[in-house]
Amino acid sequence: MSTITEAQIIAALSTVNDPDLKKDLVTLGMISDIRIENGNNLSFTVTLTTPACPMKEQIKQSCIAAIQAQVPDVSAIEVKMSSKVTSSCGHHGHNHGGHHHGEQHTCSHERPLKDVKNIIAVASGKGGVGKSTFAVNLAVTLAKTGAKVGLIDADLYGPSIPTMFGLLDAKPEVVEKNLIPLEKYGVKLMSIGFMVDADTAVVWRGPMASSAIKQFITEVEWKELDYLIFDLPPGTGDIQITLVQTIPLTGAVIVTTPQDVALADVSKAVSMFRKVDVPILGLVENMSYYELPDGTKDYIFGHHGGEIFARTHGLAFLGAIPIDREVREGGDNGTPYVLDHPGSATSEAVNLAAMEVARRVSITNAECSATK
Ligand SMILES: Nc1ncnc2c1ncn2[C@@H]1O[C@H](COP(=O)(O)OP(=O)(O)O)[C@@H](O)[C@H]1O
Ligand SMILES: [Mg+2]
Repeated sequence: MSTITEAQIIAALSTVNDPDLKKDLVTLGMISDIRIENGNNLSFTVTLTTPACPMKEQIKQSCIAAIQAQVPDVSAIEVKMSSKVTSSCGHHGHNHGGHHHGEQHTCSHERPLKDVKNIIAVASGKGGVGKSTFAVNLAVTLAKTGAKVGLIDADLYGPSIPTMFGLLDAKPEVVEKNLIPLEKYGVKLMSIGFMVDADTAVVWRGPMASSAIKQFITEVEWKELDYLIFDLPPGTGDIQITLVQTIPLTGAVIVTTPQDVALADVSKAVSMFRKVDVPILGLVENMSYYELPDGTKDYIFGHHGGEIFARTHGLAFLGAIPIDREVREGGDNGTPYVLDHPGSATSEAVNLAAMEVARRVSITNAECSATK
């Protein structure tokens, strides 16, 4: 015999708020499968907006505490944590008042990437800051949580995904004129490096680069994805413009190094996304510090530059990733660092930054669906 009711459980869980979305779990529709079995054994499912939710454990504990406080007769509680990634409302870049060819514009009936829930651009002011390294480790980290993830190497002039995934000789299959993305470490991949020699891409002119990017969007079988990540070239050139005009981006992640934040290039990249109304999910500071064997952090290039830049520019700070020789080695030998060194301090830093990205995506999606 059970003496508690589903209504009591719902009432208790209505007092638990999602800390980011600022509404209670019942109103948000996150509670399901409430079961009360013999002897007041309770189980239910909480469905979060991303499998990479940094608040997962906190939310679970809050549920348990609320039930223990408000329904004291419950004898055992089992909380099943699940997730369903929310879709971007689709922010779309303006056209800068300039001309562009409308055939692949999202106003057409067949919106490109319609089964892709969120599109994230990883950008930077200048090259060599670790943008590709972060994009790769972000992709595999999200995939490890169970999300469906794709990664496009949009740096046509310096593709690095083939090297970083150990796929230098791989070629994507073509089926009925569509490219099938390669897949490794749970991530679907496309790079110009799979199609042409690395040195051919360098001489590409703007219009060719734009059409290559459009091809990656419209002629690749991405199928269903929770997150599609674009590893952009540095700066604010043709490829960036093409991207924001061709598809609705959920948001952009800016990667900097501490010594790079002082440069005007970072501000220019921030301004570019703002000008075209692409939300900036936040800023990641890479090569922030060097961790000494005793665990202390040596801030070789100064302390908290990225965090201060983020604050003064009204951006979320997504995290700081140390300089780590093994990060570079992982990039060179084709094994993303986080897969080879799970649990290390550096992996933990990458993991936190990746979860912050997922969290900002969820918040952005909730905010924009609330204003519709
Ligand atoms: N946190 C890090 N620690 C050590 N080396 C890094 C780190 N991040 C990136 N690197 C190395 O720095 C170089 C540039 O990184 P990359 O990701 O290619 O930069 P970008 O895409 O911005 O041009 C690569 O050799 C990479 O392995
Ligand atoms: Mg790169």
